Amino acid sequence: MTDGDATGAAIDVFGLEDRTFPPPALLAAAANVRDLSLYEEAERDPEAFWARQARELVTWQRDFDTVLEWDLPFAKWFVGGQLNISENCLDRHVAAGRGDRVAFHWEGEPGDTRTITYAELLADVQRFANVLKGLGVEKGDRVNIYMPMIPELPVAMLACARIGAPHSVVFGGFSAESLSDRINDAEAKVLVTADGGYRRGAPANLKGSADAACASSPSIEHVVVVRRTGEAVTMLEGRDHWWHDLMGAAGPTCPPEPLDSEHLLYLLYTSGTTAKPKGIMHTTGGYLTQVAFTHKNVFDLHDGDVYWCAADIGWVTGHSYIVYGPLANGATSVLYEGTPDTPGRDRWWDIIERYKVSILYCAPTAIRTFMKWGTAEPGKHDLSSLRVLGSVGEPINPEAWMWYREHIGGDQCPIVDTWWQTETGGIMISPLPGVTTTKPGSATFPLPGIGAEVVDDAGKAVDRGSGGYLTLTRPWPGMLRGIYGDPDRYRETYWSRFPGRYFAGDGAKLDDDGYLWLLGRVDDVMNVSGHRISTTEVESALVDHQEVAEAAVVGAKDETTGQAIVAFVTVKGGVATTRELGEELRHHVAHKIGPTARPKTVIFTDDLPKTRSGKIMRRLLRDVAEGRDLGDTTTLADPAVVEEIRRRAEAAPQDES
Ligand code: WTA
Repeated sequence: MTDGDATGAAIDVFGLEDRTFPPPALLAAAANVRDLSLYEEAERDPEAFWARQARELVTWQRDFDTVLEWDLPFAKWFVGGQLNISENCLDRHVAAGRGDRVAFHWEGEPGDTRTITYAELLADVQRFANVLKGLGVEKGDRVNIYMPMIPELPVAMLACARIGAPHSVVFGGFSAESLSDRINDAEAKVLVTADGGYRRGAPANLKGSADAACASSPSIEHVVVVRRTGEAVTMLEGRDHWWHDLMGAAGPTCPPEPLDSEHLLYLLYTSGTTAKPKGIMHTTGGYLTQVAFTHKNVFDLHDGDVYWCAADIGWVTGHSYIVYGPLANGATSVLYEGTPDTPGRDRWWDIIERYKVSILYCAPTAIRTFMKWGTAEPGKHDLSSLRVLGSVGEPINPEAWMWYREHIGGDQCPIVDTWWQTETGGIMISPLPGVTTTKPGSATFPLPGIGAEVVDDAGKAVDRGSGGYLTLTRPWPGMLRGIYGDPDRYRETYWSRFPGRYFAGDGAKLDDDGYLWLLGRVDDVMNVSGHRISTTEVESALVDHQEVAEAAVVGAKDETTGQAIVAFVTVKGGVATTRELGEELRHHVAHKIGPTARPKTVIFTDDLPKTRSGKIMRRLLRDVAEGRDLGDTTTLADPAVVEEIRRRAEAAPQDES
């Protein structure tokens, strides 16, 4: 944290919102949770509550002896228990006679479709598990996955889980360098990828980036390549193998390996306040319990529902709420490869109408984009199959919430605004659609079994009507078990700011009725369209460019994406600050990290405002960025901006923090 950004004063008080929406009577009458007794049970004895959920929702090969071992900040849940997640997601549904149930209605961006039943998914997962074994992958070995949104992606993840090989999925939009960093941190043996995928009507190459990454990732012994687009790719003899060749030759059965409850299920890298992404560790029994519990109850899942989480599997939302939660619950899901405006801006609404989607889970940035595109687009389609709407990834502003409710939900569907993080593994704060009266823009209350509190700078719980920092007061089953290879950073990042509590990095307000309002990050992490990006990571990418002397990056408020990345850049002596250079820098960052991290605006300045102790005053830069109407690529050395920074820096109190 720098320049005092994280003081209570920086947390603005949310506007008064007095509209309330009680659960619809019909839904409430048949909901999985119909009254508050679940909250009461969990409050009386959280461990007993989670133990009951673990035994009811999960099939154990061996029952656990101890519910929780808590050696702050290290937790072990359901100790002594053994299970296999792929068995929970597949075999047990097939054994119960539900093999013909559709697991995924998959739709490619060009319009090609595949319907995959639980029995078919199980068959593919067993074969691919044998493929991995054949490539020398053993229990405990890490496998990297870098793929578009095609069915082979969940197949690869579940095959890893079946043999106890932790996976590390890297979002397909990341660059070769980001992929390579993550492979090297995990020391993965095998990389599973594809020739490419479809984005905005054209094939997007992945294998080229995978090749570039492998060139600096010595641990990779084999690369498995799915043929998706049919574009030409280079296959390296001995290292690279086509998915279909290996699958054709693999044995059809592979029994699920019994794994300890605390066996590492996956690593997922996320941005923190330093340049190096953190490998968040999630394990088996506790994680599965929490994602199954939350998926069933937050979305009020019933037989016959068609569920669609429109996130990418490359992010935690896809891990927990496209793959593990829904499959553990035997749900039928839609899986869509592409963008929402291909071929038209009604693609999502067309999908919902055709598959009769009843539960939709997406991000506020998508909703705000749809708002801009207008009500005519959803208006062309019959959306009456919808019964529950979810939101995740960033604060949802009340206008977007109301638009979602009226124009997508036809004023009928409860909205569950779900707060959680890569680190929490599953949803933590959310309404339950059959019991919670919602307010537009509030994530309402912690779920049963979860302890959350807003505290002030001194760590004291705030009174109703006040703001502060969101903390979690007790361990929960899906919590991260640490940062891969760095226990000290784990303790320091999450458990040191407020002793005994988990610090989420988010500001929050408790209103007069005890509702929680999440206000966004209070640290140097930006949230752009629901993607977490570290200011430091973008700054180091900029400074890595040979013409750049110094850079400061801030997240400025943006109507559509929540925040937009604005970079203030000082160039080396003699370098001309041209529009072309600005363009080149934006491209450079996209190339180093990935297109999601590309700055929206680059502003050249002669100097960056600093505190006497030499820290860049990001808050001031953010004020400058937010106070101006910044175009998409304002890359000119704008003397007015520089002047403004200088004037404000002079007027600003010299903050020594
Ligand atoms: C933000 C995504 C407000 C928050 C699941 C958090 C939210 C970060 C919400 C985690 C929400 C997520 N309301 N803010 N409903 N959901 N956030 O790790 O700042 O990609 O710390 O996990 O997103 O992002 P991550």
